[in-house]
Amino acid sequence: MSSGNRAVVFHNPRDMRVDNLEFPKLEMPNKAKAPHGVILKLVATNICGSDLHIYRGSFPVPEGMVMGHEMTGEVVEVGSDVEFIKVGDIVSVPFNVACGRCRNCKARRTDVCETVNPEVDCGAYGFNLGNWQGGQAEYMFVPYADFNLLAFPDKDQAMEKMRDLALLSDILPTAFHGLMEAGAKPGSTVYIAGAGPVGRCGAAAARLLGASCIIVGDYHQDRLDLVKRNGCETIDLNQDIPLQDQIESILGEREVDCAVDYVGSEAHGIGNEADDLQPAAAINQVMDATRAGGATGIIGVYGPDPLASTKAEQEGVFPLDFGKNWIKSPRISGGQAPIMHYHRELMMAILWDRMPYLSDMLNTKIISLDEVPAAYDEFDQGSPEKYIIDPHGLVPA
Ligand SMILES: NC(=O)c1ccc[n+]([C@@H]2O[C@H](COP(=O)([O-])OP(=O)(O)OC[C@H]3O[C@@H](n4cnc5c(N)ncnc54)[C@H](O)[C@@H]3O)[C@@H](O)[C@H]2O)c1
Ligand SMILES: [Zn+2]
Ligand SMILES: [Zn+2]
Repeated sequence: MSSGNRAVVFHNPRDMRVDNLEFPKLEMPNKAKAPHGVILKLVATNICGSDLHIYRGSFPVPEGMVMGHEMTGEVVEVGSDVEFIKVGDIVSVPFNVACGRCRNCKARRTDVCETVNPEVDCGAYGFNLGNWQGGQAEYMFVPYADFNLLAFPDKDQAMEKMRDLALLSDILPTAFHGLMEAGAKPGSTVYIAGAGPVGRCGAAAARLLGASCIIVGDYHQDRLDLVKRNGCETIDLNQDIPLQDQIESILGEREVDCAVDYVGSEAHGIGNEADDLQPAAAINQVMDATRAGGATGIIGVYGPDPLASTKAEQEGVFPLDFGKNWIKSPRISGGQAPIMHYHRELMMAILWDRMPYLSDMLNTKIISLDEVPAAYDEFDQGSPEKYIIDPHGLVPA
């Protein structure tokens, strides 16, 4: 087995490098032994919009941290307490690190595990959330493997469908969660804020759910084209037309049943304000777009942002139009998505070809580790690809 580990390491904002590190050990961040864990050889490990917050410097992490939280890999080593996961299994790793033993994990709220981060009740790989090293690498350590990992039923089939299955570690279940929180069901009318990879997964998940009119808003025409050619309506937010007017011109009604923010605090305004960073714009727009009695999901990441222009926003306090919307009895939910709630069923939907439009909507692009620094830059510029790193050259063309 290889002695080293090539990995994408954060050095400074806009400075990601591929460094040679030590091969990972079955060991927790505090160096305690982890016989419940496994070592994975990464097969597909994606770059996410959440990594862009780190790349741009709006989500500070320590220098030297390995990036990446969307991993699919082959198990190459198992600890002595692992009972069910086997060497050779191809597995999806939920981005939430979860112990499987605490009160929240027992309730399948793996987004808020109480034990995997001494600072807050939430752990994730490749973030400043419990010092878990990420998986944009050749190899990585994953704890509590029997609880966390989703093993694919057949290795050959998994390799064949890897471009879609690679989305199960985060963005497809995350996007689905946003729709569930917004109460989406067959026939619902839906507004999706953001046509990045997560918003495009939202559009695909809305189709799977049988939503009727699916409207996606963004500024990047090439991103909007990907959903438009797959059965969605689109809104170009560069146009100086209020959102409800745009929705009315498509739907004949000014508001939708459900709306989801797939943007986060790096949101921009509409029309003349499209160049302005307005951290609360997407939340306010989805509240505005949702009918009285409807519901809104907030999937975008919000946190204290050192790059924000006001002191309040730097501290994570955002100006919400809550008073304007209160009369509509809003239901709003936010936070990280509990991937384990949804990943098995979404895996089955992929394996049984229920989402044949998924890879076209996502426009996945397979890259090598050496191509990663350039890919961060392109993704930051709004490129329409979803980048999947294939560190060992294993994903079939
Ligand atoms: N909650 C979770 O568990 C979770 C998991 C994964 C990703 N996320 C978050 O989801 C968000 C989207 O991720 P991504 O990979 O698609 O990122 P991305 O940066 O590629 O996409 C964001 C898109 O939003 C667009 N946008 C900006 N302002 C807008 C507005 N007011 N209305 C509509 N669109 C607007 C941008 O042009 C861009 O295309 C990020 O904040 C990411 O961190 C959250
Ligand atoms: Zn992600
Ligand atoms: Zn837990």
